[in-house]
Amino acid sequence: HQSKMSDDVLFKRDTVLSNILSRKGLSSFLGGEQSDSLINSSKYISPLISVAEGTDGNLEGNLPSLHNAIYNALSDDVTNVVLVGSEGSGKTIALEKLVVDWAKGECLKNFSCVFHFRMRELNCLDGALSLHALLRHYHGHISAESMALVLQKPEDVLFVLDDVHQCNESLDPSVHTLCSDPSQLASPSCLVASLLHRSLMKGAAFVVATRPTGIMKFLSGTQVEVLGFLKPQREAYFSKFFTNPAAANKALMHMERTLGCYDICTSPRFCWTVCSIYKCLMDAGKKLPETLFQLYVNILVYLIQTLSLNEAYNRELVLALGKMASHCFLDQHLSCTTEEMDSFGLRQFLGSVGVFLQVDGDHSDRCNFSFPSQQMQEFLLATSFFLENSKSEGVEKMLEKHNSRAKFLDSFMSALSEPVQRRPLETLLGEMNSDRVVDFKHWFKSSSEMILKGYCKDKHLHCFHLLYQAQNESLVKELITSSDNIGMSYGDLSLQDCVALNYVVKCLGEMKMLNLYRTRNLTEGQAELLAPTISMSHKIILLHSSLSTGAVTYLASALSRGITKELDLTQSCLGDDKFKILCVGLRDCKLQHLKLEVCSLTEASCEDLASVLTSGTSQLRVLYMRCNQIRDQGFMKMCKALCSPLCKLQELHLQYCELTSGSMEALSAALISGQSELKKVNLAYNNVGLRGVEAFCKSLHHPLCTLRSVIFYGCELTGECCHHFMEALMSENCLLAELDLSVNNLGQEGGLLLCQALSRPGCRMETLCLQGCELTQSVFQELGSVLRSGTSQLRSLSVGVNTVGDQGVKHLWDAVAHPGCLLEELDVEMTGLTDASLEDLCTAVRASKTLKSVELSNNSLTDDSVRALVQVTQQSQSMLEMRYAWFTSVNYKLSLASVNMLN
Ligand SMILES: *[C@@H]1O[C@H](CO)[C@@H](O)[C@H](O)[C@H]1NC(C)=O
Ligand SMILES: *[C@@H]1O[C@H](CO)[C@@H](O)[C@H](O)[C@H]1NC(C)=O
Ligand SMILES: *[C@@H]1O[C@H](CO)[C@@H](O)[C@H](O)[C@H]1NC(C)=O
Ligand SMILES: *[C@@H]1O[C@H](CO)[C@@H](O)[C@H](O)[C@H]1NC(C)=O
Ligand SMILES: *[C@@H]1O[C@H](CO)[C@@H](O)[C@H](O)[C@H]1NC(C)=O
Ligand SMILES: *[C@@H]1O[C@H](CO)[C@@H](O)[C@H](O)[C@H]1NC(C)=O
Ligand SMILES: *[C@@H]1O[C@H](CO)[C@@H](O)[C@H](O)[C@H]1NC(C)=O
Repeated sequence: HQSKMSDDVLFKRDTVLSNILSRKGLSSFLGGEQSDSLINSSKYISPLISVAEGTDGNLEGNLPSLHNAIYNALSDDVTNVVLVGSEGSGKTIALEKLVVDWAKGECLKNFSCVFHFRMRELNCLDGALSLHALLRHYHGHISAESMALVLQKPEDVLFVLDDVHQCNESLDPSVHTLCSDPSQLASPSCLVASLLHRSLMKGAAFVVATRPTGIMKFLSGTQVEVLGFLKPQREAYFSKFFTNPAAANKALMHMERTLGCYDICTSPRFCWTVCSIYKCLMDAGKKLPETLFQLYVNILVYLIQTLSLNEAYNRELVLALGKMASHCFLDQHLSCTTEEMDSFGLRQFLGSVGVFLQVDGDHSDRCNFSFPSQQMQEFLLATSFFLENSKSEGVEKMLEKHNSRAKFLDSFMSALSEPVQRRPLETLLGEMNSDRVVDFKHWFKSSSEMILKGYCKDKHLHCFHLLYQAQNESLVKELITSSDNIGMSYGDLSLQDCVALNYVVKCLGEMKMLNLYRTRNLTEGQAELLAPTISMSHKIILLHSSLSTGAVTYLASALSRGITKELDLTQSCLGDDKFKILCVGLRDCKLQHLKLEVCSLTEASCEDLASVLTSGTSQLRVLYMRCNQIRDQGFMKMCKALCSPLCKLQELHLQYCELTSGSMEALSAALISGQSELKKVNLAYNNVGLRGVEAFCKSLHHPLCTLRSVIFYGCELTGECCHHFMEALMSENCLLAELDLSVNNLGQEGGLLLCQALSRPGCRMETLCLQGCELTQSVFQELGSVLRSGTSQLRSLSVGVNTVGDQGVKHLWDAVAHPGCLLEELDVEMTGLTDASLEDLCTAVRASKTLKSVELSNNSLTDDSVRALVQVTQQSQSMLEMRYAWFTSVNYKLSLASVNMLN
């Protein structure tokens, strides 16, 4: 008997097969490929799923396919598999394919019966019925007798249940009286709940599919997230659909790059539609759509043409569908009844709406109608808005009403407001309402003006998307009159955003600043899309970003074709390997300023850098390399480059580069080579020491040395080093105008030696920094006489953090008051000043005609003194700024008095 039953069932597999394949499904909607042709052929590509961490199957970075995941779970004693995926992710077709493959005997062989339902079908059943009757209703080919036997062996049965989110009643077990007997009568949703909660057919297996909704909390089992088509699946599907590889590649590239709807491309259903529409267009020798809007124009035109109605009917149909679309948005209705369809004016079209809508139900007057694709819903809503003749509703109100749920509505409207874009629709549907077009243009202009004045990244990008859909270059130029604000940080752009931004920049022809600050992972794809924008940007900021190797390749080639003058890659974790790739582009480009601070570079990168600098085409002037392990070996390679007449470098910043005295000889040699154009070198926080200074200073009195500024901040220097500086500064040839020796223990000896050099008439020194150098009162006294000498060119003096007290600093106040002193900036922070200095200080500020700024922070002046100081500062002709901040030692409260005056 048992074997007769299975023969019976097995024999009927063919029936299952043809049932599924002939089902008037919606899978082929919107002009996409027919579901039967997808399922019953080798063209089918299984969607991808995500894998929970810790599970295997993530071999070589390949995510397992949906089908394998289901087979594996079911052979692993898992009896409930829950597929979760959004609209169009390919769940329905995947489940149909699963059942077809079983029916063909290709998989799931251990199940003698597989029952497949869609929840939307069960919703159409009236009243109470038993599981036995329900199954017989859909699977009439199995005799009542065999069915009874099947139901006695639950472990041989697999239930495949689609659209569970459409369950019109809750699956909450507590709201039902669950049944356990297959012959017991219950509502369809109670039967489903009883099956899923294992009171009915305990031991049977389930594969259920749902969108991510609240219903998931009632679904137990192994959850599988359906991701749809990533790039490899798209490639596979396109190449199977278009048997000609060139056509497949053309179509795929076009969908991915030109259309710019990257997140939508992951929807298999979108790919099925795009392929069919593209094929029609390509076969007819027509142009492929440039934007998502144009794609939907093509879909609409195609679908309407299949109906062969006249223009008046076409218009009426689209208007009615627009009403329905709005209704479904506003009332959050998933579907509409036949009566509702009447009210939208769709009664006469009920036989035709199937090309746009999902139709559930057998009896034409008791069907439910819903939009299977939200994009299509929004497209119809936008189109019908411009078709309507009434003037009653303004654009702003219409968008306000729908915008919380709609994603593309305003983009579609933006495109529709352009005559060229809407022309194919007007040919089909008649003229659009020009008042509404004008109204939209007005709204778009004023709202984008507001948005572009502000600093909200997402709003900027949204505005770019609207411009992109409109495809009107003069409109872009009209709305974006100044690229000042577009240039705020656009870090972490999505691929779609890259497309829109790129479009806008292409229309503008250039961009002042491309700011991608904090782009967490600039991928190859993003960089490829942004390449034209990169080429057209004067300045590029990738600060705090991280770039994939592929992205660096695109960056390099975009730079080499482009106009970029400044590039900031600070803290971008570049490393030597990626830097090598970048150098390919740096060799021949317009770049003048390059920031490579904290980029994990080592001496290995210096070889590449040197070859860039001596390429003969490099325009690099300023290089920032702080915090890279360049070391002496690396720096020496760069010094060699400096000796080349091809190297145009003028500024080199090398703080914290682990240099020692070992490389100073090489620097010195470069500086006197007669080829170096170096004007500034920053060696702060490198252990240069006495021997290093000795080697370096040899260059300073050489007639060919062009250096004007050098920074040895925190370089472990001592007073002895100052002998070498003094000797250099005493030379007529020395051009040095800026010297920073702060945070070195120079002491009185060193300070006095420097003063001796500074007092030489003809000394060019303008900016001197000696903060935290253990200077004494005698040194301040000498500095005072230098300033008063009438020959000193000193404009800026920083001698803070030397504790010389009121007595010491008094020498400087007296000097400042002297008419021969040209000082403009003075920093005496933390020198131990008290109120006793007040009078001298005020006298100095009053007398000086040049002093602009004084830094007094962290001294012991009281509020009374500060008040008096503020007053003299305000009365002074020259003073622009007086800074005074301090921490009271008792309670660490910060007091701040800062006076800023701009003329
Ligand atoms: C499925 O495809 C095969 C050949 O690939 C064909 O013979 C068969 O008729 C198809 N089945 C249905 C039900 O379309
Ligand atoms: C099918 O059933 C056989 C016998 O019960 C068992 O050994 C085998 O593991 C099952 N295979 C799967 C894929 O469940
Ligand atoms: C039609 O939709 C209503 C409301 O969403 C729902 O309650 C009902 O079950 C559906 N009927 C059919 C036949 O799908
Ligand atoms: C579910 O659908 C059935 C059949 O259309 C209907 O009788 C029932 O009222 C619906 N339940 C809810 C909660 O909408
Ligand atoms: C583009 O937009 C501008 C400004 O709104 C408009 O004057 C022009 O007619 C549009 N161009 C085309 C080709 O539609
Ligand atoms: C960056 O993106 C690429 C390509 O999408 C990916 O392979 C890589 O793992 C990502 N890296 C990080 C750190 O997220
Ligand atoms: C004053 O000194 C404190 C502690 O030494 C320091 O943290 C602070 O930065 C100094 N203030 C200014 C304005 O430099």
